[in-house]
Amino acid sequence: TADKPFVMVIFGASGDLTKRKLMPALYSLFKDNRLPKEFSILGVGRTVYSDSQYRSYILDEIKKFIKEEDQNETWIDAFISHLYYLSIDPAIESEYGLLSCRLEELGGEERPDNVLFYLATPPSLYGVIPLHLKKWKLNTKNSRIIVEKPFGYDLESAQKLNKIYSSVFEERQIYRIDHFLGKETAQNLLAFRFANGIFEPLWNRKYIDYVEVTAVENLGIESRGGFYETAGALRDMVQNHLIQLVALTAMEPPAVFNADNFRNEVVKVYESLTPLNEVDLNEHIVRGQYTASNSKKGYREEKGVNPESRTETYIAMKLGISNWRWSGVPFYIRTGKQMPTKVTEIVVHFKETPHQVFHSADGNEHPMANKLILRLQPNEGIVLKFGMKMPGPGFEIKQVTMDFSYDKLGGVPSGDAYARLIEDCILGDATLFTRSDAVEASWKFFDPVLNYWTNNADAPLYGYPAGTWGPLESEAMMHEHGAEWTNPC
Ligand code: BG6
Repeated sequence: TADKPFVMVIFGASGDLTKRKLMPALYSLFKDNRLPKEFSILGVGRTVYSDSQYRSYILDEIKKFIKEEDQNETWIDAFISHLYYLSIDPAIESEYGLLSCRLEELGGEERPDNVLFYLATPPSLYGVIPLHLKKWKLNTKNSRIIVEKPFGYDLESAQKLNKIYSSVFEERQIYRIDHFLGKETAQNLLAFRFANGIFEPLWNRKYIDYVEVTAVENLGIESRGGFYETAGALRDMVQNHLIQLVALTAMEPPAVFNADNFRNEVVKVYESLTPLNEVDLNEHIVRGQYTASNSKKGYREEKGVNPESRTETYIAMKLGISNWRWSGVPFYIRTGKQMPTKVTEIVVHFKETPHQVFHSADGNEHPMANKLILRLQPNEGIVLKFGMKMPGPGFEIKQVTMDFSYDKLGGVPSGDAYARLIEDCILGDATLFTRSDAVEASWKFFDPVLNYWTNNADAPLYGYPAGTWGPLESEAMMHEHGAEWTNPC
C-alpha cells in the first residue's frame, strides 16, 4: 500500500501531541522522501479552522519543534500544502458523514482506501471513534488505526477497548503506540543484547544483582492538568513505557526477529512478573507528588488540577520476574515529574566477586562492582564501570569507566521516535507496537496497585519538593537490598 494515495487523519489535530510530535515527525519523513508520493494529512478536531487557518497555525508551531538543521522554508511550505482540516466533534456519530465526504474529496475520484487514523485525543474518545468509523464504513480493508497510550484505564477497560477495536479492525490494522519503543536507543538495547556474545552469558540471575530503570523529567505536567489528573504517573509512564523497558532488558532472544516473535517474548516477560502481594503493595511501591519549591509550582497549584489532588507524579517500585533467568533479581523502576534532570536509563548491576582481595582507593564501598549503564537519553550511549588498580605502590582499586557514545556513530538519527513508528505503520510493520495481549498482561499486573490505592485512602502519598529526586522513602526501599538509586548528573 505504500505507493497508493495515502491519507492520514489525525483526531486531536489542534492538540499538544500533534504540534509537538506528529507534525514534526511527518515533516521529517516528508523531507527524507519517506512518505508515499501522493499524500494528504487531514486534521480533525472541534476547534474551528479553515484549511488555510490550520496551515498557518501548524506553520507557526512546526518551526518551534523541528530541529534547527531541518528548518528549510521551501520544504516546510511544500509540506504544509498537504494539510487539510475538518472541524467536527469526534464524539458525535452523525458528524462522520462530513469526514466521509472530505475523504472522498481528498481521494479525487474515489474514497481512498489507504487511510491511517491517528487518535491523538483524550483517552475518553478511544472507544468511541472506532465505532463511529465503522458506522460510516470508514474502516476499509487497507485502513489502519494508531491509538495513543494509555490504552485503557485498568484491565477491565483495556479488555473492553480491545473488544471494540477487534470488532472494527483486524489486529494487523491496530497499532497501539508506545513511543519509547520507537527510540533508537531502546531498539539498540536489543542489538546490544542479541548481537554481542560477551554479555549474554552474564545476563541472568547468576551474575546480575539488580537492575534499575529510570525515566525522569525536569518538567512538570505543563498544560496537561486535565489529562494528568485522570492518569497519574502509573498510567502515564509505568504501565507502558517503563514496563516496556523492563521487557527489553529481560526478554529472551526471539529465534527470528519479526512482529510475532518479538511481541511473544515481550508478553512472556509481562506474564512472568511476580504478582504483587500485601508486602509489596505496602513497602515496595512509593508514590509521590511534587510540592512548590523555589520558583516552581507544586502539582496542586497547576492549572486543571484539584487543589486536594492525590494523583501521583512520582512512582518507584520493586518488581520481580518469576522465571528461570531472573528469579530473585529485583528490578527497581522509577519515574517522576519535576526531578533535577531529564534522563532515561537502565543500570544493570553485576554481582561482586565472591571475596574482596583489594581495597578501595577512594572509600567507595563497591569499587569492584561492575555496572552497565544503558543511557537512552540524553547523551545517548553505554557505559561500563569496573575497578582498576591505582598506579603506584600497593593494590588500591578505583572505579573507572569505558564509554560508548552515539556521537561516535554519527549521533542518534534526527527523525525521532514518532517518525520511525509512523513510517513502520505506513509500511504495515507492527513489531514496535503493543499487541492486545501485552496491554492486557501489563494491566493485569498493575491493577492491584490501582485497587490498593482506591481502597486505602490513607495509603501514603509523599510530597517532594519540585526539583529533587523524589521521596526519601524510595531510597529506603532500595536499602533493603543494600542498594541505592544511581542518580545521574
Ligand atoms: C509521554 C508522557 O508518553 O512520555 C509524558 O505522556 C512524558 O508525560 C513523555 O513527558 C516522555 O517522553 P520522552 O520521549 O520525552 O522521554
